[in-house]
Amino acid sequence: MPCTVIVGAQWGDEGKGKIVDTLAERADVVARYQGGNNAGHTLVLGEETYKLRLVPSGVLWPGTLCVLGNGCVIDPEVLMEELDGLEERGVDLSGVRISGNAHLIMPWHRIIDADSELMLGRLQIGTTRRGIGPAYADKASRVGIRVQDLLDEKILRQKIQTALSVKNVLLRKIYHQRPLDKDVLTEATLRYAERIRPFIADTSLLVNQALDAGQVVLCEGAQATLLDLDHGTYPFVTSSNPIAAGACVGLGFGPTRVDAVLGVAKAYVTRVGAGGFPSEADEADSTRIREHGGEYGTVTGRERRCGWLDVVALRYAARLNGLTQLALTKLDVLSIFESIPYRLPDGSVTEDFPWHQSDFHHAQPVYERLEGWSTDISAVRDAGQLPRAARDYLAFIEERVGVEVAIVGIGQRRDQIITLRDVLEAA
Ligand code: GDP
Ligand code: IMO
Ligand code: MG
Repeated sequence: MPCTVIVGAQWGDEGKGKIVDTLAERADVVARYQGGNNAGHTLVLGEETYKLRLVPSGVLWPGTLCVLGNGCVIDPEVLMEELDGLEERGVDLSGVRISGNAHLIMPWHRIIDADSELMLGRLQIGTTRRGIGPAYADKASRVGIRVQDLLDEKILRQKIQTALSVKNVLLRKIYHQRPLDKDVLTEATLRYAERIRPFIADTSLLVNQALDAGQVVLCEGAQATLLDLDHGTYPFVTSSNPIAAGACVGLGFGPTRVDAVLGVAKAYVTRVGAGGFPSEADEADSTRIREHGGEYGTVTGRERRCGWLDVVALRYAARLNGLTQLALTKLDVLSIFESIPYRLPDGSVTEDFPWHQSDFHHAQPVYERLEGWSTDISAVRDAGQLPRAARDYLAFIEERVGVEVAIVGIGQRRDQIITLRDVLEAA
């Protein structure tokens, strides 16, 4: 399949980075289509761990074109640090390209994000405080500063000055913060511009040319379906569209180009930040999962809330994304449980994810308890060697969600994977 979208099917941190990295061995292009450095995508190669924030998860395969599309928001300071860090570790950055139409996260966005959360008090969203929401808000308000503005010092100076004439009033009067100094900020941004300039390109053209040439393009989602601005658990969502359709907008190609959509889901569920979570486990089980699965935020280090697989939510993800296949990660983590409750649709109420927030907040999970396997499966490489209970679990998910499982993750490392079906062939 030349064009495959890889999308988070739950509330994020499903292991998208690892799945993209594995598939990227055979890809020509890996392209991020939304989000910013709220994402943290972890790749583990032997003893080496890479925590990517912005750079696409294909970067460890030299020669891969790694695109940050127009749908992304880019904090130039973070990008510069990430590029420097990768380069220091000997990673080839020659394939990195950044859309000139992507928007910049500026210091006022970070301040406003953090302070708005403080002002919300108990009602806060639990954002990553990286300025994501305010940057997308400025984009929609048509007052954002874009990556291409870094190419022209005069334009950049003018845009920063115009933005600050409004933002500094806000910072002073609403957020009780010191105003930002125009000259200091402009000089810093010009330094980042110097570093980033060589990577700026017309990425829509590049991706379309790759597709025209029949090359293999992986579109890497950040965040996930239930954090989608339109379809997620609003307002406890991010400010972009992680669902598969977002790939077209965020990279600049038509929907007819997409051949396959791979949903990435954990064998259980985690959520960072606030918001409803019907299948959240009790404190004891949540702690066991968190410790065994290393469920701490890649970006913020926050404890992730842990719970049982939510089939209703997965069915919703299958519908919204048009999933053609699933990659199920962290099956190894469930090895510690003797039995596993799964959240099932309660037929009498709904088989479909509740669209109304009140229904969602009052939804009571109906659990079905399945047998666990209680054996270490992290060395298994062939599905046939999985314990019967684990195979039954996969079959159960396929049947209830209506999407075949193509990949199973059984550990952090790149090689800890079981391929049941060839995702790129199928596409
Ligand atoms: P992403 O944001 O979707 O890319 O996921 P993160 O990298 O934030 O979080 C996933 C975590 O699970 C990372 O620490 C990965 O190294 C780890 N991981 C991915 N797949 C597996 C798996 O199959 N088993 C285990 N034990 N860990 C995994
Ligand atoms: P990856 O790509 C998990 C969550 C935040 C918060 C909400 C809004 O690694 O899966 P934001 O900073 O985006 O305005 O925060 O979204 N969130 C994530 N949760 N994984 C992520 O990214 C996330 N990015 C944002 O915790 O609840
Ligand atoms: Mg993550």
